[in-house]
Amino acid sequence: MTGAEPADVAAAFRERFGAPAQAVVRAPGRVNLIGEHTDYNEGFVLPMAIDREVRMAVRPRTDGRVVVRALDVGEEAEFEVDAPTKGRGWSEYLKGVAWSLAWAGIELRGFEAAFSGNVPRGSGLSSSAALELAVARAFHVSSSFEWEPERIARICQRAENEWLGVRSGIMDQLASAAGQEGHALLIDCRSLAVDPVPLPSGSAVLVLDTSTRRALVGSDYNERREQCEEAARRLSVASLRELTRERLEAQAHLLTPLLLRRVRHVVAENDRTLAAAAAMRAGDASRLGELMNESHISLRDDFEVSSKALDAMVSCARSQPGCLGARLTGAGFAGCAVALVTAEAASAVAAAVGDCYRTASGREPQIYLCRAAAGAGLI
Ligand code: GLA
Repeated sequence: MTGAEPADVAAAFRERFGAPAQAVVRAPGRVNLIGEHTDYNEGFVLPMAIDREVRMAVRPRTDGRVVVRALDVGEEAEFEVDAPTKGRGWSEYLKGVAWSLAWAGIELRGFEAAFSGNVPRGSGLSSSAALELAVARAFHVSSSFEWEPERIARICQRAENEWLGVRSGIMDQLASAAGQEGHALLIDCRSLAVDPVPLPSGSAVLVLDTSTRRALVGSDYNERREQCEEAARRLSVASLRELTRERLEAQAHLLTPLLLRRVRHVVAENDRTLAAAAAMRAGDASRLGELMNESHISLRDDFEVSSKALDAMVSCARSQPGCLGARLTGAGFAGCAVALVTAEAASAVAAAVGDCYRTASGREPQIYLCRAAAGAGLI
C-alpha cells in the first residue's frame, strides 16, 4: 500500500555532478482531514503532512546559478537566481521560489541539485507545495537565512500565487513546512497559529486516489475563490471567516442562490473543523468520521467541487464496516479522497474499497495508508 520510494538522490547527484552533495533535504506532501476551501477565507483547516515527500540532494555554488536534475522525468533546468524568466514545466516551481525569496529580501546563492519524489502529481496531496518547500530548504543550504516555517510557507505561497498563477491559500505550504509526526495541524488561517492535534489512537488514515486528474492552474479553483470574495463584499465582511450561521441566514437576501450555497459551505466547514479538532483531542474517532462525511456532502452539494469519481470513491469507503468517515481532500474536482478507518481494519478496508471503486468506475485506484510526518527539513 505504500507505493514507490523516491530515487536515491544522493547517488544520482554524485553520478551527475561528479562529487558528493553537501546535504539532502526533504519536504512532505499533505492530506487534509477537514477544512476545505476555508484557508483563503481566513478560516480553519486540519491537514497533516504525510510520509510521501520530495527529496533533493544539494551542493551550494559560489555564484547565482541553479542547476537542477529532475530524476523522475529525466530532465534538467538551469537559471540565474537574480534573473529568472517565466517558462513552462516543473522548473517554474524552482524559479518561482527563487523569485519569491529574493522579493522577501533574502540574498540567494545558487546550487546544484538532483531531486525525486513520491507525492503523486495533481492528485490533491500537494506535490507542488512539497517541491516548493524542498526548493526553499535547498536555498537554505546554499544561502544563509533563518528557517522560520511560517514565513517560508508564505514565501512559497506567494511563488504559487504570483509565479504559477494559482490563487491558492496557505494550507499546503504551511502543512509541508510545519508538519509534526503523529499529528494533524489545526491552522487558523487568519493568525497562522498552528496547533498540533494527535490522531485518535486506534485509527488510521487512508488516501484513496481515484486516478482522475485535473490541473489546478486554469481550473475552477480561482473561480470559487472569486465567488467567496464577491460574497464577502456583498455581506460587508473582510472575509467569510467573520460570519456565523445566524448572521448568514439573516443576510441571505444579499446573495444569489449560488453564492449563498458557497458561503453556507464555508461557514459550516469552519465549525466542523473546530469540532473535528475537539473530537480528536477527546480521542473520539467516530465523531471525527461523522464530521468528515458531512464535509463531503457540503463540498458536493454546496461548494460543488466533487466529481463522479470522487463521489464513487467516498461511497465505496463509507460502505465498509471499518470506515469511520470519508470525504474528498484538497481542492476537489478530481484526485484523492481521504478516509478515517480503524487501524485494525485498515488493510481490509483498503482492499475492499479498491474492489468496489474498480467495479463502480472501471478505473484502477491507488490506495495508501499514510502516517503523519514531520515538516520540511534535512535528512
Ligand atoms: C488547494 C489549495 C489550498 C486549499 C485547498 C482547498 O489544495 O492549494 O490552499 O485552498 O485547495 O481547501
